[in-house]
Amino acid sequence: MKVNNVLGDLTPREFLRDYWQKKPVLIRQAIPGFKPVLSRDALFALTAREEVESRLITHFGSQWKLSHGPLASLPPTNRKGWTVLVQGVNLHDDGADDLLSQFRFIPDARLDDLMISYATDTGGVGAHLDSYDVFLLQAEGCRRWRIGRQRDHSLIDGVPLKLLRNFAPTTEYLLEPGDMLYLPPQWAHEGVAEGECMTYSIGFRAPTWQELGESYLGFLAEQVDLRGRYQDSQLTPNAHPARLGNDMLKQARQQLGKLGGRAQDVVIFLGEHLSEPKPSVWFTPVERPLSLARFSAAVASKGLRLSRQSRMLYRDKYIFINGESLQAGGADRLILQGLADNRALVAGSANAGSDDLVETLYDWYQQGWIRFL
Ligand code: SIN
Ligand code: CO
Repeated sequence: MKVNNVLGDLTPREFLRDYWQKKPVLIRQAIPGFKPVLSRDALFALTAREEVESRLITHFGSQWKLSHGPLASLPPTNRKGWTVLVQGVNLHDDGADDLLSQFRFIPDARLDDLMISYATDTGGVGAHLDSYDVFLLQAEGCRRWRIGRQRDHSLIDGVPLKLLRNFAPTTEYLLEPGDMLYLPPQWAHEGVAEGECMTYSIGFRAPTWQELGESYLGFLAEQVDLRGRYQDSQLTPNAHPARLGNDMLKQARQQLGKLGGRAQDVVIFLGEHLSEPKPSVWFTPVERPLSLARFSAAVASKGLRLSRQSRMLYRDKYIFINGESLQAGGADRLILQGLADNRALVAGSANAGSDDLVETLYDWYQQGWIRFL
């Protein structure tokens, strides 16, 4: 592995200890004798290629515009205020790949790509925040960076870029070729070209736990190997047909518990899953629904029933209907359990329910899940 020093006088150990994910640092002449890896024309040629990820950002007058590559043409280089950015140049160019590999003092699992931007005088992408660490290496020409660690992350409305509404920089640096600025995630920054310039962004990645968790569950789903199916040869007559029974829950907990999750997740999952209507079932929403007040009066005077297609189950405080779940307590719970077991509520039997119950029933009525008796 070839790792030269790309941190000027700092050693990788010092850099990681004092700056990485902690605070910005400007490193003058970070890479001794640095030479750009790609000419401007070679970069422009990449922007026209289908398999290369590129963006053109123009800031002509006061209007920001963003176009995604492949880019059939670019504005003239003597026109101020535009920039083109090419992502993943290391995937297409050996020199860029070599340069990126010099940053392997950070683990490969964190290293993302080398992005190269070209800008004409005054060009840039505006003031923004990034979610990832970045080294901004000035390759050709000069760029003025202004940075700050602000709490206000609100964005300007109506522009195609995520630009900070109230950028409040606290430090300013003019970078020349070979200089490099390191920024931890979430530092506000804005780089403006002074004359034509090219900047290399050595970018990193750090997955969110949510994205990893979702992917992990997909991975686990492919590994699942549970044998057999639910059996109930010892079933006894049951006065509460809509209730998820103890034995069913016990078996489900034994089997699904092997995959992790909390005991109550199994209950909720099972109720939602088993109350899911068949794929061919469509509910027709009521065309001209009564008002909530009239609905409530009609429930009291007529009573209601589940529509034929509705599937309703319950267990303890959990009520399941058509793949959805809710929690109910007190009188509401008893009323809903009665509706599930009898598939109907006779006139007056919902009278003791809360306003929440009436609203829930009203929602089900509008969706066509229940009807009047
Ligand atoms: C640029 O190179 O113009 C943008 C880089 C960045 O701000 O992350
Ligand atoms: Co940025």
